[in-house]
Amino acid sequence: MAYAAFRSIGAYVPEKILTNDDLSTMVDTTDEWITKRTGIKERHIAAKDEYTSDLGVKAAEKAIERSGVALGDIDMIITATISPDYFCMPSTATIISTKLGLKNVTAFDISAACTGFVYILSIAKAFIESGMKKNVLIIGAEKLSAITDYTDRGTCILFGDGAGAAMICATDDKSEAIIDVHTGADGEYADLLMTPNGGSGSTHDALDQEAGSCFMQMKGNETFKVAVRTLTKDVKEILAENNIASDDIIHFVPHQANYRIIKAVGDALKLREDQVVLTVGKFGNTSGASIPMAINDIYESGKLKSGELMLLDAFGGGLTWGSALVPFSPKN
Ligand code: UT7
Repeated sequence: MAYAAFRSIGAYVPEKILTNDDLSTMVDTTDEWITKRTGIKERHIAAKDEYTSDLGVKAAEKAIERSGVALGDIDMIITATISPDYFCMPSTATIISTKLGLKNVTAFDISAACTGFVYILSIAKAFIESGMKKNVLIIGAEKLSAITDYTDRGTCILFGDGAGAAMICATDDKSEAIIDVHTGADGEYADLLMTPNGGSGSTHDALDQEAGSCFMQMKGNETFKVAVRTLTKDVKEILAENNIASDDIIHFVPHQANYRIIKAVGDALKLREDQVVLTVGKFGNTSGASIPMAINDIYESGKLKSGELMLLDAFGGGLTWGSALVPFSPKN
């Protein structure tokens, strides 16, 4: 049987930085409030002519190079994004494949909001284990600034732009394989976090009139509570099902939405501070890109070593959630 190994990671953030002080000149907020309630100090914002696919390509180039996989051996690209280059088509994954110079790959996007990276990890694993694909490039890429309402202080302080990518490759060595991936969803909570306009329910007239038709709206406080509950429950389940103790986790990599959510989940799971990966302070919430960007952060700072076990944990609009037990398994 083929197993799926997490071979490499890469990430990219655009140059421009938007600080809390910058935001306090745009909406009624302060650096003190944002820092205390979210842990966020700054986030990166893409240039006007920089598309989600451009961010994804830069992250992917690093992941491909670090994996040692030849471009021509990549047989599938999946992008997780809620801020695609184009509303319906073409998919951002197809654009990325062309920008990377790839032909004849399977390429598609999925929409699972902040859980997107865990979802594409599960899809890559399934395709590889079934024998249908061998080298799958997965990318979480977001230009959330394009769908953020910069007059709404409840959301605009949270989100940033960026991308992260990983190469998932077939192996027959079970010891280097992804152990398990959980994914779930509950549409009952759809209204907590959504882009309410611009879809098939909007009339053409309404679309013409609504400038901000694709902006995100969030019931922040309710989302916060469901997030803590769901993230904790899902992790407890995946650890128990796989007979793994929280002490065995070297790196807990949660979706980077809010420091207080991460702290509450870490405490509930009795994780030590040195196990918890934190990047929300410098990148904000980058939705589907946040987990691979956080993994890349520990990789580039020399903290992520071959064979170390990561626990991924995500939660987002839909609602969706997911977790994964992933040893880091570079080729060399
Ligand atoms: O990524 C996927 C999922 N997303 C999340 O998980 C995000 C979850 N939610 C959150 O991170 C937090 O709920 C927020 C950071 C969005 C808000 O923090 P909170 O502690 O839940 O605040 P709140 O919404 O209960 O608001 C408390 C007060 C309100 O004022 P009153 O009604 O008490 O007078 C808000 O109007 O804070 C006010 N407020 C602000 N004040 C200054 C809300 N946003 C701001 C702001 N600056 N930016």
